[in-house]
Amino acid sequence: MAIALPTDDGTTERRITPELRSLQSRIRELAQRKNAVILAHIYQRLEVQEIADFIGDSLNLSREAQKTKADMIVFCGVHFMAETAKLLNPTRTVLLPDMKAGCGMADMITGDMARAFRAKHPGLPLVSYVNTYAEVKAESDICCTSTNAVRIVQSLPDREVLFAPDKFLGAYVQKHIPDKKLICWDGYCPTHFVIRPEMVLARKALSPTALVLAHPECSPEVLELADFVGSTQAMMEFAGHSENREFIILTEAGLLFRLKDLYPEKRFYSIAPCPHCPYMKFVELDKVLACLEGDLNPIEIPTDVMIRARSSIERMVEVV
Ligand code: 13P
Ligand code: SF4
Repeated sequence: MAIALPTDDGTTERRITPELRSLQSRIRELAQRKNAVILAHIYQRLEVQEIADFIGDSLNLSREAQKTKADMIVFCGVHFMAETAKLLNPTRTVLLPDMKAGCGMADMITGDMARAFRAKHPGLPLVSYVNTYAEVKAESDICCTSTNAVRIVQSLPDREVLFAPDKFLGAYVQKHIPDKKLICWDGYCPTHFVIRPEMVLARKALSPTALVLAHPECSPEVLELADFVGSTQAMMEFAGHSENREFIILTEAGLLFRLKDLYPEKRFYSIAPCPHCPYMKFVELDKVLACLEGDLNPIEIPTDVMIRARSSIERMVEVV
């Protein structure tokens, strides 16, 4: 099938076939007819990003899902994101093109594990990263995304806070709020975990004037080498405003496509090998079309989980 690959020297090789173009037109036409909005995360395949009404990071996609008036949301992202859309706008049908689009980090904590974590530290609030399933959000006091994690933890009156599941995002937050003590779950994103400091140094040696932009899901040793740390959206904004012309991007490949599209006059490099999230790539155009045609894969959340998970995600949206 299709393919569009970012290469390690910063060029983006685009190969979108006529078959894909035809699928794209059929999807857009059907989405309009069914009053469906298509939301896509920045890590999606290029040809999927191209059919979206809105492309964003997890926080911005949540906001779009919450305010949409469309009858149906087709979520081109991973399962926890589609669940979050359903939590924020429960009267809408939310479809996920492939139910296998999970998340290696979200899989590292279940509702039972979150309950046990709380029981081990009685009285402490639990902040859960949005990259968790609804059953974990239901056990949490408040959620956060990579954009607002520091602000969310800061907003709590407690000095000690439980944070799950990303220990690297937790370490990043801890560094910014030394007056609090975060007790972190031992989870991480497998896609960002493979980024090693020596890969960054090797790429930097090829382009010494390039600025290093990193996602806070990278390890603390990698973040030490970054000139800027932020969510995918924040990295895009930084690259747009910066006077620098070259950037080394430490996150999933999808952001490279987006940056090349947005700022063709600038150069964006990956480390080698370029990190890919296999879960995000489960979403393909033929599956988007099939799910729109047959109303396939609606997100369903048991009512009791829905009520409790919704309050932790709504609390997050109130804070930021
Ligand atoms: P953001 O969209 O918040 O940057 O997070 C990236 C991510 O890991 C999505 O799975
Ligand atoms: Fe999950 Fe990591 Fe993929 Fe994001 S990039 S969906 S955190 S596995």
